[in-house]
Amino acid sequence: MLRTARLFLLAACLFAAPSAADEPLRVLVYGATGSVGSLIVDEALGRGHEVTAVSRDPSTIDASRPGLTAAKGDLLDRDSIAELLRGHDVVISSVRGVIGDKSDPENALQLLAANNIVAELREFDGDAPRFLHIGGAGSLKVKPDKLFAETLPKIALPKPLESEIIGQIWALDDLRKVDDVEWTYITPPIHLKKGERTGEYRIGGDDVLRDDRGRSRISKADFAVAVVDEAENGTYVRQRISVAY
Ligand SMILES: NC(=O)c1ccc[n+]([C@@H]2O[C@H](COP(=O)([O-])OP(=O)(O)OC[C@H]3O[C@@H](n4cnc5c(N)ncnc54)[C@H](OP(=O)(O)O)[C@@H]3O)[C@@H](O)[C@H]2O)c1
Repeated sequence: MLRTARLFLLAACLFAAPSAADEPLRVLVYGATGSVGSLIVDEALGRGHEVTAVSRDPSTIDASRPGLTAAKGDLLDRDSIAELLRGHDVVISSVRGVIGDKSDPENALQLLAANNIVAELREFDGDAPRFLHIGGAGSLKVKPDKLFAETLPKIALPKPLESEIIGQIWALDDLRKVDDVEWTYITPPIHLKKGERTGEYRIGGDDVLRDDRGRSRISKADFAVAVVDEAENGTYVRQRISVAY
């Protein structure tokens, strides 16, 4: 009897339908023309996922690559977000900019985008895509009571960059209040640079993650590996994570 049960189990394993992880994901990428987002697109395509790459001007995207669709979209336009979200498993926002008054963090695109995407995801009835927000290292802690952003010399920062840094901190504050949407805030290390794809990275939490030489760094290509891993696995839903070597 036991042997029959074992045989049945083996047959079930051999003939089981592919798990969700084996199916290509349908991934919507905002910021697909950007320095980080374009590598997220490359990484997702390289793994056989179906990617919708969004730009305000999709003619700038080479849509001849298998699995890639270029789409027009603007994160300031809620209707266009609603339309694009449909039919996707995951939406990734990797954008930057400040709209209007550059000295007001409320105008940071990262913050506006997070809130607009969350608002549209709330309109879904049970099958909403998961949301991966690419965050900012300014929101990481260098000490229990001090953010990295607070250590930056204000006088040396261009106003728009300062607004983006604060906007990213506020985006995290806002997301942390969201309990009805599956979001993950993925934070790069202090130094996010061009470099090779090694496939190596570590995941941390609220503190700046440093290597054994005290450096907080990763290549954009390896950061993209971590982002697509999270898109596939959904391990850190409603959490902020940081990624670094
Ligand atoms: N160490 C760090 O913490 C660190 C370092 C670098 C980057 N980052 C973060 O990584 C993310 C990406 O940065 P990046 O350097 O890759 O940016 P980027 O190269 O400057 O690209 C910006 C992207 O934003 C898109 N965009 C601008 N306005 C838009 C709108 N209204 N609607 C939709 N898309 C819009 C642009 O797309 P189109 O112009 O094609 O529409 C472009 O693809 C940002 O969240 C940034 O804060 C963090």
